[in-house]
Amino acid sequence: MPSTTTSPSPESLEYTPEVARATAHLFERVRGAVPEVEWAVHAPYIHRIEELKRERNAVILAHNYQTPEIFYGVSDFRGDSLGLAQEGARTDAEVIVLCGVHFMAETAKILSPEKTVLIPDLRAGCSLAESITGEDVRQMRRRYPDAPVVTYVNTSADVKAESDVCCTSSNAVQVVESLGTDRVIFLPDEYLAKYVATQTDVEIIDWKGHCEVHERFTPEEVRGYREAAPDLVVLAHPECPPDVLEEADYVGSTSGMAQYVKERQPANVAMITECSMSDNVAAENPDVNFIRPCNLCPHMKRITLPKILRSLERMEHAVEVELEIAKRARRAVERMLEVGRGSGG
Ligand code: 13P
Ligand code: SF4
Repeated sequence: MPSTTTSPSPESLEYTPEVARATAHLFERVRGAVPEVEWAVHAPYIHRIEELKRERNAVILAHNYQTPEIFYGVSDFRGDSLGLAQEGARTDAEVIVLCGVHFMAETAKILSPEKTVLIPDLRAGCSLAESITGEDVRQMRRRYPDAPVVTYVNTSADVKAESDVCCTSSNAVQVVESLGTDRVIFLPDEYLAKYVATQTDVEIIDWKGHCEVHERFTPEEVRGYREAAPDLVVLAHPECPPDVLEEADYVGSTSGMAQYVKERQPANVAMITECSMSDNVAAENPDVNFIRPCNLCPHMKRITLPKILRSLERMEHAVEVELEIAKRARRAVERMLEVGRGSGG
């Protein structure tokens, strides 16, 4: 692991003309989402993080829910859970800084045990990952011995290790159907499981885990937005409750939603998901009007530029997964990657 460095002097975090010049192209991308006065605060961090990335041979992977100054300012790769897992496995960098939540960093470590995987704040958790343990999975297996276990990546390494295969919101249907069985145990997101059940003939046995962000949306809310803009195109994440998904024109992963907007350029769009999605997608689609219903993911928002800088300076917080658990969890994640990116769910 590269050695740690001392903190930069306060002067090196000033918004100097050199920093302004070096970051001007990045500001152009986020101008609509980040006011100029705020950029003066972010830019020195971005500049210093870029230097440290080179010194450390590090890459930054950012989930679609990261704020624009992180998403466009410092990340080398941006995407949904599946994209981040694939890129984590592909990169030649020695160090991965995962700007997302803990299960994403753990997945990167599972796939690349030889790399240093850092998460800028260890408290960046996930309500779905907390809803289930490895022992719960073993119990489900005892109850339904004929059904293989498909586990959403929003889980701990422990839970993945007890599973046959993982999935994300972008390949869930494809993964379920790849098993060739009449029924599967699908853990832990009840609403994603229910959505998958509408897309396949395979019987889905679910668990009562929920995303604390998406479960708060309501169908009344969506109908209200449609009244304000009758041509509104509604895109929703499959972690939303079924009655919300019924109101949507498209259901898909975070990257699926971004792709939809890029390709179809709807006049008015609402993304029923976390707040930063609309900011990030709007920055690349200036002709699309975004109605912005959103619920904030407090875990994703624990990641900030100062914490990313500190993470690279001190090489903290390194994510570790116990060897035997990692080996079993890797089998489930790699099996998912072999199935590949799907279209539904
Ligand atoms: P995606 O895989 O669609 O990016 O979803 C991850 C997530 O945590 C959504 O809440
Ligand atoms: Fe977990 Fe929901 Fe946050 Fe995604 S949005 S990380 S599922 S709590």
